[in-house]
Order: sequence, then structure tokens, then C-alpha cells
Amino acid sequence: MGNRKLMAIVLIGLTFVGMTLSGCTQQKANTIIVGTSADYPPFENTTVNGSIVGFDIDLIKKVLQDEGYTVQVRDIAFDSLIPELQLGHINVIAAAMTINAERETQVSFSRPYYDANQSVLVQTGSGVNITNTIDLTKYIVGAQTGTTGWEWVNSTLVATGKLNPDHFNSYQSALLAINDLQNGPTRLGALVIDSPVANAFAAKQAVKVALTITTNESYGFAVKIGNTALLTKINNDLLNVTGSSYWKELVDKYFAS
Ligand code: ARG
Repeated sequence: MGNRKLMAIVLIGLTFVGMTLSGCTQQKANTIIVGTSADYPPFENTTVNGSIVGFDIDLIKKVLQDEGYTVQVRDIAFDSLIPELQLGHINVIAAAMTINAERETQVSFSRPYYDANQSVLVQTGSGVNITNTIDLTKYIVGAQTGTTGWEWVNSTLVATGKLNPDHFNSYQSALLAINDLQNGPTRLGALVIDSPVANAFAAKQAVKVALTITTNESYGFAVKIGNTALLTKINNDLLNVTGSSYWKELVDKYFAS
């Protein structure tokens, strides 16, 4: 083979590699990785065949796809979502995450898209009797690690000396907490969890809402601090979507009883 011919082949090869690579970066730039904690129906959960679905997932996909992005969803433990966002491993958090001052120092939140309070779940027929927050101190109380419910139990009951720290169970996953609740009060007597999620579990499992604690929380999507371009797009689209018929369909799909 002549040198020229070889050169030509190498050049064609390089051009091809170049095109493939730029094709890749092109696609990457347009792909948004959404992190969630898929243990929180009806906002996010995993189906039997392993796909991640829910109100948050539909909503963030709609918003990002409207803005021209391809969306990938990743399941991550709730208390690792903020660190993963800060490390740049995910671009957006969609996890029924409450907007609050402490988190505002770590991430940037979108406009609020859903309101919630805390509820106390107990096993149906367990004999656990809770009519006010002080009644909680008679039982083993649980909450998901890193959540506002966990913070509430910790600051209101544990830090004030009302609940023995040995009687406070922290769960990595909300699903594990729901399981333990159904193992009976010797394992877990009461679970503090977001009210819309408590209602969803109560509709499907042998658990019921004993008490609601008014905390006036609002969920927001989160992006890395400084990612104002993405945040502006999300906020603009959220505003459009919340006023649309799509919003009503979404609410009906996930919250109609
Ligand atoms: N709203 C609560 C919080 O922000 C609980 C959210 C838990 N989300 C979840 N996908 N497990 O702390």
C-alpha cells in the first residue's frame, strides 16, 4: 500500500472517530440525569419490572422534554441525593424534596410544585394509640434518614429529652420503614412521613394515619447552585405546566382515590 493511500485511510478513520465523538458529546449535553429516591409513592417508586415511575418523574420528564432534553432517571438513597448533585453525578433532584433554608445553602430549588405536611402512620390493629405528638414518646418512632420528618422527630422529641434516642429508628428507605411498621410495635410503633405518601401507603397496606402534624412544607426540584440556566428553564416550564390541562391529568392520575 502506498503512503498516500495509507494516509487517506487514516484520515477517513480519524474523521469517522471525530464524528462519532462529537455525536456523543452532543447527546450528553442534551441528556439530563435526574436523581430520585424511588421509595415514595405516589411521587416516585419502582414498578415490578424495575422502571421508576410517579408524579415527580412524569412532571420533571415533561418539563425537561419540553425544554428539549433527554431524561435519564437514577435511583439513589434520599440522604445521598444532595451530595450526588453537588458532585455533578446528577443534574436534577426530583424526590418530593421539601424546600427549606438549610438545603437552600446546598442546592438551588425550583418554584414549589406540591404542598405537604407530616403524618404519623401506625399498623392497623396494632393497638398503638396516638392522638397527639406526646403520645409518640410511648412507642418506637421511625423516620427516613435525611428527611424533614426525621428532623422533626429529632428536634421535637429526641433533642428535648422526650423520646429516648434508643426508641428512634432511622431508615435508609421509606419502604423498609413501612415493612418494619408491619412487623409490629416491638419493631416500630409509629412512622413520621410526608402526609401525601402516608395516605398512599394507607390506601394499599395494613397501615393507617393516626395523626397529622402541620409543617407547611412545599416540594421543589433542585439543581446545583449556580446552574441558573437550567433552573430558569425548569421554572419557566413549571409555570406553564401547572396552569395546563396536563397538570390536572397528572394530579388525577396519581391522587384520584
Ligand atoms: N419531603 C421530605 C423531605 O424533603 C421527604 C422526602 C423523601 N423523599 C423520598 N423520595 N424518599 O425531607
